[in-house]
Parts: sequence; structure tokens; C-alpha cells
Amino acid sequence: MKAVKVILGGLLLAVPGSLAVANDDSLNSHGRTVYEQHCLVCHQADGGGVPNMQPELWSSPRLNGPAPALIRFILHGSAELPPEQRSHDNIMPGFATLIDEDLAALLSYLRQTFDNDAPAITAAQIARVRAAEQMSADDN
Ligand code: HEC
Repeated sequence: MKAVKVILGGLLLAVPGSLAVANDDSLNSHGRTVYEQHCLVCHQADGGGVPNMQPELWSSPRLNGPAPALIRFILHGSAELPPEQRSHDNIMPGFATLIDEDLAALLSYLRQTFDNDAPAITAAQIARVRAAEQMSADDN
């Protein structure tokens, strides 16, 4: 019984601290949830990918690269990439159906996970990329 009390005490003590960082933490855990729902099936829980099928996401050039190119890649997947930018025969689908907030949380999480280190991406940045694409589509 003593051990249980100690654990409970630890949990109670941890509450005020976790409330203080609720914003960052909940964004991060939302990003992880979106990853688990949409990306894990191919890139795996540990981000290790599957050899010859899907790349690992550890130290990923795209995740650490410029935000607009990364956002366009996630929106449209790999089918629209020029062949010289493709690394795998397998096709990655696009995720344009996800809302800006989900994409922002997902990419911000991944840019700080699996040894990646790049600044967070906001929902406004996603919206700007979509708007720019819409404008260039209207020009055609
Ligand atoms: C059906 C399998 C599949 C799913 C689902 C999938 N991907 Fe991919 N992903 C791929 C493949 C295949 C590639 C390699 C594309 C290429 O370059 O030819 C790739 C490449 C990538 C890369 C580039 C890695 C690098 O080399 O820098 C990133 C980043 C990425 N995926 C993120 C995601 C995210 C985020 C999701 C979820 C929203 C996701 N993927 C869902 C198959 C998948």
C-alpha cells in the first residue's frame, strides 16, 4: 500500500506543472495522434519506415527543410513530385483533406521528433500555402 500512496502523491504533485505547459503539451500530443491515425501505417510507430517501401522519418531532409515545400508535399503526397525528387517506387498519398490545425500540429510534432529539429509550423502557414495554390489554379 505504501508504494501506491507514493505513486499517487507523485501524480498529484505533477498536476500543477502539467497544467502550466498544457498548451505545448496538448499540441504535441494532438500531433502525435494525427501521426498515429494517418502516417504510422506506413512510417511505423518508431518512425523507422519499411525498407524499400517507405522511408524512415529520422533526420528527414523534408521535415527539416523549408516549411512551404514540406506543406505542399504533405498536401499532395509523392505522386506529383518530379521523378528526380522521388526516393521510392511506393506512392505516398496526399493529406489535403486534413484541416489546417491538424496538419500544423502534426508537422510541428514531427519537426521535433525522430531526431528532427526545425521550427513549428502554424495553421496560418498551411492556410497561406493552400491560398497560394488556389490563386495559381485560378490563373490557369
Ligand atoms: C501509403 C504509405 C504512406 C503513408 C500513409 C504516408 N507516407 Fe510518407 N512517405 C511514403 C513514401 C512511399 C515516401 C517516399 C516518397 C518518395 O520520395 O518517393 C514518403 C515520404 C515521406 C517523407 C519524406 C521523408 C524524407 O525523405 O525526408 C515525409 C516527411 C513523410 N513521408 C511524412 C508523412 C506524413 C507526415 C504522413 C501522414 C500524414 C505520411 N508520410 C503518410 C509513404 C507513406
